Amino acid sequence: MKKKLKELEDKIKEAHLGGGEKRIESQHKKGKLTARERIHFLMDEGSFEEIGMFVTHRSVEFGLEREKYLGDGVITGYGTVNGRPVYVFAQDFTVFGGSLSESHAEKICRIMDLAMQNGAPIIGLNDSGGARIQEGVVSLGGYADIFYRNTRASGVIPQISAVMGPCAGGAVYSPAITDFILMVENTSYMFVTGPNVVKTVTHEEVTSEELGGASVHSSKSGVAHFSCANGLECISNIKKLLSYMPQNCEDEVPVLSEFENPKSEILNSVIPENPNQPYDMRDVINGTVDAESFFEVHKNFAENIVVGFARLAGRSIGIVANQPAFLAGVLDIHSSQKAARFVRFCDSFNIPLLVFEDVPGFLPGTDQEWNGIISSGAKLLYAFCEATVPRVTVITRKAYGGAYDVMNSKHIGADMNYAWPSAEIAVMGAKGAVEIIFKGEKDLKKKEEEYIEHFANPYRAAERGYIDEVILPAQTRDKLISAFKMLENKVDKMPRKKHGNIPL
Ligand code: HXC
Repeated sequence: MKKKLKELEDKIKEAHLGGGEKRIESQHKKGKLTARERIHFLMDEGSFEEIGMFVTHRSVEFGLEREKYLGDGVITGYGTVNGRPVYVFAQDFTVFGGSLSESHAEKICRIMDLAMQNGAPIIGLNDSGGARIQEGVVSLGGYADIFYRNTRASGVIPQISAVMGPCAGGAVYSPAITDFILMVENTSYMFVTGPNVVKTVTHEEVTSEELGGASVHSSKSGVAHFSCANGLECISNIKKLLSYMPQNCEDEVPVLSEFENPKSEILNSVIPENPNQPYDMRDVINGTVDAESFFEVHKNFAENIVVGFARLAGRSIGIVANQPAFLAGVLDIHSSQKAARFVRFCDSFNIPLLVFEDVPGFLPGTDQEWNGIISSGAKLLYAFCEATVPRVTVITRKAYGGAYDVMNSKHIGADMNYAWPSAEIAVMGAKGAVEIIFKGEKDLKKKEEEYIEHFANPYRAAERGYIDEVILPAQTRDKLISAFKMLENKVDKMPRKKHGNIPL
């Protein structure tokens, strides 16, 4: 028996070494954690249970039958994060560069199936050279098996992808289907075709970092939701993100019983006297939600809209807010797409939505029109219209034109709509309006003042019931806590259908 125990111990030791000491050292030299270290920092101490530690590949091509590593380049298992169950896979770059073989894919699929069947989030820690080149089409099949499961799991359990090393070619599409992507600065990249192919096809010369690094994807393309300074920050962001989410679409987010109030009085002085002067909408958010609870998502992308999670009296909410400090808070293609995807995530997972609105309208121009602002704006409109979670809007200042309708207006299903006394709710700004109505006439100054007097306020909308209450800014937190409490048991269902056809 002793011999058998020793045999098991030796095998476990071997598996823990992955591709060996030298490759672990090389991973560290690149400033990267190993797959096992990542899991260690992610999971609650002692909670991780590994599945498939001794799995190896079955390939016999190109001498692979002589090169086998226990686990085959991916560590899979389950455990808890802050006491809540999660399923995880971490690709091990020290084994064939974390490349995906048939067996490697089977391990990931097994863990995804378990996550789905048991209703808990799945977290993928990606660090891979892509398809295991020696295995050919078998490895392509493995990717497709994962994509299929990602899609089936979408909206059922939260799916989080951390890209902590290379992620290229078709491999990018698994993270892309998941709910959130986190990347690590300088050590991770994502692209469909790498710098060499780019050079051959378009003659552009770019580095991997310039083409698909964390900074590019979190600011220019919007593919990544978080850009993290290092692996540890990335893992800590995953944990934080999970804390705002339920385990699955049937579940609710745990309510915190202890929270600190923000300094809400500052809200009475946050709006500048001059209606064209910017202010930071984050001040409004932070003055409203539980202190220190706002966790911004997609911070550096489409900064004219702010989205993120927060808590109100300990309850998780999703926030969508126009940002007057950036492009006057105008809605454009990227901001509409960013907000639409966030709204859909919150609605999938029963997270109530809070909208802060200060929007002058949609961004004009050929660039926007030719690139499809119509379809993109429609995505946001559609996302709000189909959301059945409790929905509350606060108009802090401008609510003009179609953007008024789109930003969670009462007409598209918002449950409670508040406005501050500084709100201006109208078809368009006064100057543009009088130039159309009184075309050709001179001295339009007086008419403009008349228009402002008539429409640049919240009372016309309140007379119609489009605004439920005009409130003092400093009352906002208390009003919202009451409103969301009142809406706690809301039941609203979409008409029976296979699925809608969102303008993708
Ligand atoms: C098998 C691989 C591999 C792969 C890397 N390795 N990628 N083995 N299949 N795809 C192995 C290397 O042979 C090496 O083995 C070890 O991993 C580390 O690789 P290095 O090149 O030494 O590391 P580094 O310099 O950091 O470069 C990493 C890399 C590079 C940029 C990822 O390895 C690379 O370009 N790999 C190939 C990428 C690729 O073309 N993949 C296929 C993409 S197509 P040793 O034994 O020396 O440690 C694809 C299609 C998916 O993925 C489609 C899905 C639908």
